[in-house]
Amino acid sequence: MKKLRAGILGATGSAGMEFVNALYDHPWLEIDGLHASPKNAGKPFSEATTFDTGHLPEGIKNRTVRSLGEIGSDYDVICSALPSDIARDVEGECARHTPVISTTSAYRYESDVPIIITEINSDHYRLIEAQRRRGWNGWVAPGPNCTTVGLVMSLHPLHQALGIRRVYMSSSQAVSGGGYSLLRRWESQRMPELPEPVRSYEPIEIRGDVRVEGNVIGHIPKEEEKVQTETGKILGNYREGMVVPADFEIECLCSRVPVVDGHYEAVFVETEKSCSAEGAAELYESANERNRDRFGSLPSSPRQTFYVLDRPPMPLYDAYIGGGMSVAVGRIQETPHGLKYQVLSNNVVKGAAKGMVQVAEYLASIGFLEAK
Ligand SMILES: NC(=O)c1ccc[n+]([C@@H]2O[C@H](COP(=O)([O-])OP(=O)(O)OC[C@H]3O[C@@H](n4cnc5c(N)ncnc54)[C@H](OP(=O)(O)O)[C@@H]3O)[C@@H](O)[C@H]2O)c1
Repeated sequence: MKKLRAGILGATGSAGMEFVNALYDHPWLEIDGLHASPKNAGKPFSEATTFDTGHLPEGIKNRTVRSLGEIGSDYDVICSALPSDIARDVEGECARHTPVISTTSAYRYESDVPIIITEINSDHYRLIEAQRRRGWNGWVAPGPNCTTVGLVMSLHPLHQALGIRRVYMSSSQAVSGGGYSLLRRWESQRMPELPEPVRSYEPIEIRGDVRVEGNVIGHIPKEEEKVQTETGKILGNYREGMVVPADFEIECLCSRVPVVDGHYEAVFVETEKSCSAEGAAELYESANERNRDRFGSLPSSPRQTFYVLDRPPMPLYDAYIGGGMSVAVGRIQETPHGLKYQVLSNNVVKGAAKGMVQVAEYLASIGFLEAK
């Protein structure tokens, strides 16, 4: 099979670097171009990115980074990891001639755009047909926000088997989810000794950037709204050219914590049918079998979708299980109204780039994505 030639936009960033990692020795796709901001255009990739490129082949490390103005129509697929504000115009322009998979929110909430997670709603790709009305020869398929991924993955088997009435979630999210500038800001704050709390009797007024080191930042702009909207859309049903969102209540609070990779979430689910913790663990094991049968041949699929743990999942230890493509669900407990548990998923791998590469693989496997 001829490999699909991929162009990566925002290649030097947190999610872009994971597109590079997912594609540099991929059996079905190959990296054909790396694009970033004007400040990095013309530089070799290893100099342009602040991430470690030591493990990459010389051909990628030395590849000259190009500007967005140099995106041609000869790629078979474009992988976008741009900031959402600029992604809107760029992805729309690219979709005129080429399919775009994206980690950005630029098109996520439009009625003719699916938010696909392979194991949950791969049939939603049929929505893409409606994008032809935009006059595009290509299309845009964005993934969810990285915080939505662990939640919706862990809810899916419960939603199917038990029905869901209401969900409450509180997240502790990794710094890499805020992009490379937040990661570097945190790095610059590191100190050899433990950071001392501010010893002020009255709450202080915070000016400028909030410290990351030694802190919990209890507000991530627009994150909670994104998780609410996306969860309904992803768990919804495709019917006659549209997605009917899943109909249950969801409330969440999202916080940033000083952790490099991996979004941790505490989840409380009110279910329609009751279920024991052991019963819920069996639902995840059955989902593992189903996913292995349906998607096990995709190169980016993990051997196992879910790891059910009897301890809490922890970012330091569990963010890279299944190569960052598996989801860890821990401490499942029955409650008077349903279940509670903790879940961890990798925000840059399953939650962004490689999750979208898996979607591209699925679309290629059904002939929806082909070489030009
Ligand atoms: N990080 C995650 O966990 C994650 C997860 C899911 C979705 N996302 C989404 O993925 C997208 C990228 O996020 P990120 O965390 O990877 O951000 P990031 O680390 O800040 O990287 C942003 C990338 O976009 C490029 N860029 C910025 N301004 C540009 C411009 N004017 N023209 C061309 N390129 C420009 C940067 O290039 P330079 O290096 O040259 O500045 C860099 O390659 C966002 O939409 C984000 O919401 C991120």
